[in-house]
Amino acid sequence: MPRPDAPTIPAAPPAEDIPPLVLDQASGDAWNLYNADCVSFARNLPDNSVDLAVYSPPFSNLYVYSESIADHGNCASDAEFFDHYRYLVREKARILRPGRLTAIHVKDLVYYQNSSEDGSAGLRAFSDGCTRVHLEEGFAFHCRITIYRDPVLERSKTNAHGLLWKTFQGDASFCRVGMPEYLMVYRKWAKPGEESLVRPVTHPKDKVPLTRWQDLATPVWRTNDIDLWLPYGDPRRTPHAQVWNLRDPGQGDADLPSTDVLNVAIAKDERAERHLCPMPLNITKRAIDLYTNRGDVVWSPYAGIGSEGVSALSMGRKFVGTELNPTYFRQGAKFLAEEAQASAYGSLLDLMEGASW
Ligand SMILES: C[S@@+](CC[C@H](N)C(=O)[O-])C[C@H]1O[C@@H](n2cnc3c(N)ncnc32)[C@H](O)[C@@H]1O
Repeated sequence: MPRPDAPTIPAAPPAEDIPPLVLDQASGDAWNLYNADCVSFARNLPDNSVDLAVYSPPFSNLYVYSESIADHGNCASDAEFFDHYRYLVREKARILRPGRLTAIHVKDLVYYQNSSEDGSAGLRAFSDGCTRVHLEEGFAFHCRITIYRDPVLERSKTNAHGLLWKTFQGDASFCRVGMPEYLMVYRKWAKPGEESLVRPVTHPKDKVPLTRWQDLATPVWRTNDIDLWLPYGDPRRTPHAQVWNLRDPGQGDADLPSTDVLNVAIAKDERAERHLCPMPLNITKRAIDLYTNRGDVVWSPYAGIGSEGVSALSMGRKFVGTELNPTYFRQGAKFLAEEAQASAYGSLLDLMEGASW
């Protein structure tokens, strides 16, 4: 007899609903992209083989990206999302190199009136849920980087009750602040006996100035980082003294503009597929800059149209990714091939000009 408190085990889906491991794949010298379910695929990646896992997971059921039962956005509740996501985090804890990090781009989510269990409106601490799953699967909480987003833009996009001037006047107990995004960072510590696998990430002081580190150490990422990927010392870089202050609300996202996404490139190509929720390139590049060495392997299990891969290749890193939606996969493969060509050309110029990173 099962215990009365034993969890009910859901019936397995019919075999024909389970997608094959790899539906399609594309690759270049420094990248591999697979049209596959990230969990099944990750089970085949070797232990300790990835230097940084950086990605945006589906934000629970905010968007459903495909009809596949393997789509992690295809879930009824946050609890169901985390039940599925946990399997990926478990594999990640095995695949990541000891002493290295995973950085995930998330935000908290909203309960609209009558969508929560008790019918009240409010916020769902999705970022905390991600931390809980990572801790339970063996990661240590490393840091939370806040990415500034303009509350006036959020109000105009969502008309959120808690951000309205009218609410402020009528009953400010309903008012809240605008919702930032976060880069949640978790560490895989080396276990005893794994010391030889640890490879420090180094930023030699003759190549990276103190001001660069002070900029990256800011808890709210806010600098004008358009030129992040230019070599240090390049005259085209913005002098580090010119750190922007946060702009006044209503002036837009300013410092890390949320429009720095591959969709902007897509907008120029009418045949291309836009992504519902691409990861901003400048956030991704900052994380890669901070947490990897040149030549390291960067992994995105939810690769979308390839933002993390394009960022990695543009900075001289290798990339492996999986994406379930075939249209996004094809678009991602195209962007990666284009970036690989452009960055190979860039590396040649770096060599010719004696770039130091
Ligand atoms: C927040 S988006 C990531 C977008 C990506 N960072 C980019 O910039 O294009 C989440 C992605 O996860 C994909 N996805 C959902 N479930 C998946 C799964 N089980 N395996 C692989 N990809 C999945 C979705 O199709 C979607 O493209």
